Amino acid sequence: MKVIETIPEMQELAAELKGSGQTGFVPTMGALHRGHLELVRAARKSCASVVVSVFVNPLQFAPSEDFEQYPRDQERDFSLLDAEGVDIVFFPSVKEMYPEGRSTTISVGNLGRVVEGAARPGHFDGVATVVAKLFNIVRPDVAFFGQKDAQQVAVIKRMVADLSIPVRVEVVETVRESDGLALSSRNQYLSPDERARSTALFGALQRGREILLSTRDPGAAEEGMGEILNAVPGLKIDYARAVDPITFEAPSSRAVLLVVAASIGRTRLIDNLLVEAD
Ligand code: PAF
Repeated sequence: MKVIETIPEMQELAAELKGSGQTGFVPTMGALHRGHLELVRAARKSCASVVVSVFVNPLQFAPSEDFEQYPRDQERDFSLLDAEGVDIVFFPSVKEMYPEGRSTTISVGNLGRVVEGAARPGHFDGVATVVAKLFNIVRPDVAFFGQKDAQQVAVIKRMVADLSIPVRVEVVETVRESDGLALSSRNQYLSPDERARSTALFGALQRGREILLSTRDPGAAEEGMGEILNAVPGLKIDYARAVDPITFEAPSSRAVLLVVAASIGRTRLIDNLLVEAD
């Protein structure tokens, strides 16, 4: 497994890979868990070469967020990726990615400003900008993202379609602990007591699903999810919404995406569940 730290070197290697089958790409911010490894496995299964980026992207963190504290453990990350048969890890510095004078930002418009985008202004512009840049550096045929970050998936699909970026986006199911908690690099911030309470997010989604299937009423599902989350001491809801899975506006078809975000202590967690009524 090669670890590449500069853009020109990565672009040169990416061009060499082009001649030998499809390149699969998994962008990450490191602090890898089983969810990331499932993305890598999906890439390994269907692509001749697999490139993983490890880059904590400052553009997607607001000044009040956890950029500095975001967990970083590259030695562990690299050894996990090596064991998965990854060919190349792209591991640039912030300076390499964003030299002085950088000023272009990609914005996907309203989709980046609603729901999670309303709670984290600027977040999705930061995600779209880094992902577009990484696509230009790695030149993948297929890129793999987790359904856990459902609005990120919608933003990237929108950007790829709008800018005719020749990359196929594959979405891999959320990986959960046995009690339903979706895996996230931020779960490691949770104390044992907070960890126990964090299962309320998946509980709320399941309750929302039940209500939606029996009533077909997105408003009732939102209320039911809110009730479950509000009953948990010390949990602060950001939102509990039933939205269209593509626009994140009010649902307009039988497919409804339930999305929740809440903070427990200093840890902000998100989760989602797609419900397709028959
Ligand atoms: O999902 C993530 O880890 C990040 O948002 C991504 C896609 C690597 C962009 O920084």
